Amino acid sequence: VRILSVVGARPQFVKLAPVAAECARRGVEHVIVHTGQHYDPMLSDVFFRDLGIPDPDVHLGVGSGGHGAQTGSILGAMDPVLEDRRPDWVLVYGDTNSTLAGALSAVKLHLPVAHLEAGLRSFNRRMPEEHNRVLTDHAGDLLLAPTEVAVDHLRAEGLGERAVLVGDVMIDVLYRVRDELADTDAVLEQLGMQPGGFSVATIHRAENTDDPARLGAIVAALQEVDHPVVLLAHPRLRARAEEHGLDLDGGSLTTRAPLPYPALVGAVSQARGVITDSGGLQKEAFALRTPCTTVRTETEWVETVELGWNVLVEPGPALRDALARPAPAPTAAAPYGDGHAAAAVLDALGA
Ligand code: UD1
Repeated sequence: VRILSVVGARPQFVKLAPVAAECARRGVEHVIVHTGQHYDPMLSDVFFRDLGIPDPDVHLGVGSGGHGAQTGSILGAMDPVLEDRRPDWVLVYGDTNSTLAGALSAVKLHLPVAHLEAGLRSFNRRMPEEHNRVLTDHAGDLLLAPTEVAVDHLRAEGLGERAVLVGDVMIDVLYRVRDELADTDAVLEQLGMQPGGFSVATIHRAENTDDPARLGAIVAALQEVDHPVVLLAHPRLRARAEEHGLDLDGGSLTTRAPLPYPALVGAVSQARGVITDSGGLQKEAFALRTPCTTVRTETEWVETVELGWNVLVEPGPALRDALARPAPAPTAAAPYGDGHAAAAVLDALGA
């Protein structure tokens, strides 16, 4: 079986790592195509290096652009690659423009598509990721769902027959990195923080960064926390803050460059809280049992909220109150699987 993975953005490199490792373990032929959606070394290369992912076989180098231009460039560039490699499966990950473009390019050439992280829904049609998910699921032949809730969504859309529950590959890589982490002193020193004395924040979603008033309210709240908050600033956040004339640093808030994955795991494991609009970080915080505050009106990862480890808030006083809430009740629940999802993925692909 020849599997061709299409990846392009930071969270996809994390999801790719356990799949690539399992392919190597089983001796399965695996072609990695990097679309080039994320090209900064800190958002791309360091993930390949730190997570032991083989270098991409093909680099499309599409770079930034509007949604249409970016998606279209990937589509155009994929045709010759797929014609040349003729994989048994085109495997796409998550919900970015690279995901949708990879899936579309494959179905148009009648190549089977598998979607890893299928069935997630926010039901917020203003998110580009929601369209990417829905369209990719409906184009896909095999829908690899991380949770029961995701399988239910697929059933509700008439896609139940193509769905397989495999668990969440992000938990595979998180557990591996956590267990290999020698110590967290270096990252705490780099951040200038004490164990348990700080929160980690990330904000990058268009709906939070692009509206000056909304981003201003988020930043104001993060500057008034009663303990230090380290904001790991994504390029989109920095660019928009500059456009809005907004100073990120001030009060309790300090910005830093995005961290490599092992350092992020170390930082979150030692933090008293996480504040984010990322999908992956909500789960990573839960798996490391660090309380999470999510600056969004809905989440795809409803289990983290139901179990009491994540709250959804609007920017403003609600955000400040959420950060002061008491610690959640301990739980042994494992809604995202046991860290062996990549093996289930390859089983489902018949590899
Ligand atoms: C993308 C995904 C989002 C995912 C996120 C993870 C879509 C629609 N969105 O959002 O779902 O959560 O990745 O980070 O696919 N930029 C750089 N350097 C880079 C990459 C981007 O400076 O390496 C800049 C771009 O020029 C652009 C901005 O960051 O101004 C946004 O990049 P883009 O890839 O369009 O989307 P993300 O916001 O990263």
